[in-house]
Amino acid sequence: MIPKTSALCALIVMGALACVSAAPAKPQTVHPGDVWPDDKGNHIQAHGGGILKQGKTYYWFGEYRAQDNEPSLRYVGCYSSQDLVHWKFHAPALKMAAPENLGERWVLERPKVFYNAKTKLYVMYFHLDSSDYSLARVGIATSKHVDRDYTYLKSFRPLGQISRDIGQFVDDDGSAYLIFEDRPNGFHIAKLSDDYLNVEKEVCLIPMHMEGGAVVHYQGLYYAIGSALTGWNPNPNKYATATSLSGPWSEFKDIAPPEVNTYGSQSTMMLKVVGSKSTTVIFMGDIWKPKTQWDSRYLWMPLEIGDGKLTLPAPKVWTLDIKTGEALVGG
Ligand code: GAL
Repeated sequence: MIPKTSALCALIVMGALACVSAAPAKPQTVHPGDVWPDDKGNHIQAHGGGILKQGKTYYWFGEYRAQDNEPSLRYVGCYSSQDLVHWKFHAPALKMAAPENLGERWVLERPKVFYNAKTKLYVMYFHLDSSDYSLARVGIATSKHVDRDYTYLKSFRPLGQISRDIGQFVDDDGSAYLIFEDRPNGFHIAKLSDDYLNVEKEVCLIPMHMEGGAVVHYQGLYYAIGSALTGWNPNPNKYATATSLSGPWSEFKDIAPPEVNTYGSQSTMMLKVVGSKSTTVIFMGDIWKPKTQWDSRYLWMPLEIGDGKLTLPAPKVWTLDIKTGEALVGG
């Protein structure tokens, strides 16, 4: 026979276990526009960023604009997550001095990392510029490790064209593309070379002047978005669709009521999350604070997308179930 006290203890332990197993999983809640703390409690520094998925882990790279950065250096932040909500800080993946004689106020913006399975190298593209934005090139840094030790390789003008804001797109067949804004001509979608160290082939030049370019492939259609050329100030971002990356592209339409100026944000990427029940496409935008860049915020929202239409809903708290792919706005 079990003594009374032990039986009581056993009941308490069983009760506690039942409580543990019945406890709902921590909600995976995204708060657009708020401070977004990493695992150390610091606001995430990955502005103008991009996401690379390796296995089940998402890596978020972006401009690391912490207040205590060395003024002459530029940094690329790297964070990892299993659920796209809780992010672990890795030391900046790239920390570099101006690669050319560009002066103290040189520019490294919108870094995007691709993984090349053939060379087993991580290839980081970024916008490299002088303080007056007249250099207008892409820079490349590579590493054997996803989250660290990127070393600068070279810079160039893709396809010989001026290049400022860049975006990345990896199609469902694994082909990798650089999206770049070329002031005289427009919005380019260009295929990378086999080793990703060059921009090899123009796939499409959309004669629209748009920055913050991003592309997603969803239910048989390509959707491209971009913003107008208004610097750090928000404007109505627009989208177009095409059945092939090479076009023809539809006319561009607003992704939200034009008067809300993309809810104060600017596009940087669209991230497709394919789950067991649903596919969610996340709009990743930056809410820039030009005078306090380190405090620039993120506007991530699940897009209303399908049948050739794309709408950015008004920002609200939302939850994401990374396994099922379901997003619940207001949840
Ligand atoms: C924006 C661009 C940013 C940054 C800024 C500078 O249009 O998207 O990445 O270059 O201009 O004014």
